[in-house]
Amino acid sequence: MKAFYLTTPLYYVNDVPHIGHAYTTIAADVLARWKRLSGQKVFFLTGTDEHGAKIAKAAEDTKQTPREFVDRIAGEWKRTWNAMGVTFDDFIRTSEPRHQKVVQWVFEKLKASGDIYKGSYEGMYCLHDEAYFTESELVDKKCPTCGRDVQKLKEDSYFFKLSKYEQPLLDLYAAHLEFLSPKFRASEIVNFVKSGLKDLSVSRTRVSWGVPISSDPSHTVYVWFDALINYITAAGYVELGDGKSAPRFEELWPADVHIVGKEIFRFHTVIWPAMLMALGLKLPTKVFAHGWWTVEGTKMSKSLGNVVDPNKMSADYGNDAFRYFLLREVGFGSDGDFSEKALLGRYNSELANNLGNLLSRTTTLIVKNFDGAAPKPAAASFLLGDVADLTRTVAAQYDALAFGDVLETIFGLMVRTNKFIDDKAPWKMGPDQKDELTLVLGECVQVLRVLSIFLNPFMPEKTEEMWKRLGEGESVAGCGPAWVQELLAGRIPEYSPGQRVIKGDPLFLRKAAPAAK
Ligand code: MSP
Repeated sequence: MKAFYLTTPLYYVNDVPHIGHAYTTIAADVLARWKRLSGQKVFFLTGTDEHGAKIAKAAEDTKQTPREFVDRIAGEWKRTWNAMGVTFDDFIRTSEPRHQKVVQWVFEKLKASGDIYKGSYEGMYCLHDEAYFTESELVDKKCPTCGRDVQKLKEDSYFFKLSKYEQPLLDLYAAHLEFLSPKFRASEIVNFVKSGLKDLSVSRTRVSWGVPISSDPSHTVYVWFDALINYITAAGYVELGDGKSAPRFEELWPADVHIVGKEIFRFHTVIWPAMLMALGLKLPTKVFAHGWWTVEGTKMSKSLGNVVDPNKMSADYGNDAFRYFLLREVGFGSDGDFSEKALLGRYNSELANNLGNLLSRTTTLIVKNFDGAAPKPAAASFLLGDVADLTRTVAAQYDALAFGDVLETIFGLMVRTNKFIDDKAPWKMGPDQKDELTLVLGECVQVLRVLSIFLNPFMPEKTEEMWKRLGEGESVAGCGPAWVQELLAGRIPEYSPGQRVIKGDPLFLRKAAPAAK
């Protein structure tokens, strides 16, 4: 069976993770968790991009060798994702031997087929940043990165025949509309390709920290050409040597979705599919570009000192609340603005007041009135309505990576349920109103059980806590596949006999505003 294969970009190790990186990774994790929850086999890949002059320079600045430096920083990335509950199945680093072997093999194969040829490259070079720029990239004729003078340089270089793939790429976009997602980002790529593609320089003689070309070791492979290949390396492409792939390659490739930020959409939708075409490999089903976060209206940058550390946000608000916020605040695909004030606002109003209260009111009243025995729910829940329909909607929203829509659907349900409790005021019901109490609280428990399932990919820890309080046995993650199937068939799994609801501390403690800086 084909596994659902999804990826994040490989992050550069000249920096540590900030909320922009956390956003992509958490979004991918939510999708991976949803797919697993609904019973699919999943392969979720993330990792680090470790070659190139910039990284060698960052290593030099810290007086470490590139190897020591990348090992240290890659460790920090991995630790951050682990701490945030990111359930990647593989973490690939471009400096690993398993990847270098594949890059070298691909390069030689394309050289042999004529898709890579030798020529010379001329551009404006910044000695300080060890990078070429085109005339149009220069700022006031100076290096756009450091502002220093640049000089015209020429070097031998291998080129990838990107121009040959102009028409095949346009055919791909026309035949597979999903490939360029979301839709509103498609025309920019189509127009770019239509305006004509130039062959791409894919080797460097001035960058030593990279993958050497086996047949011409004075060259290293251009970082993007190197890094994109990771997606097939991890899937087992030519892993067995002699051009033979590992058996898992069949199960994994092509990727179902590459999730990327909008600034690297072009690399993934033009260069990458052309490379795959040249290799005769199947193409990914979808590349999805999300938008960019600013911080309180300003671009995030080290020099401005406004980079938000995701580790700090998680420590202050909890992983689940931070994950929820990032995907709730802006629609996936659009740009957004981060502020701690907005995070705090949603934390208090949506999580503490709405979700937390719903759970605490329901469990408290059940413990008080029924000694914790979960009241038998009515045959059909009117708050959930047509459960099959609701579940199909949520599943379709997840599958379309419309995470904001999933949360909007769920939030609507939460608000309706809280209003229902307010209207019915079950705390006012006396012992002679047990039937009415059973009905009201039974309804709330059903909603909370279904909410735990739907919300689990966003809030894996809190939903497990809810599940326990509701007296459910196994974990949400464990029950998920059976539950989702039942819900899709319009059925809510029965309570187990003797199921007991328990009270506990608030799910989300209300928080005061952080002290002004
Ligand atoms: N190494 C390349 C990717 C190679 S993939 C084969 C790269 N790395 S990066 O470290 O710069 O990470 C870029 C990614 O980080 C973006 O695509 C996006 O996913 C995320 N973000 C970085 N800054 C961001 C924001 N301000 N907002 C949202 N996401 C952004 O590019």
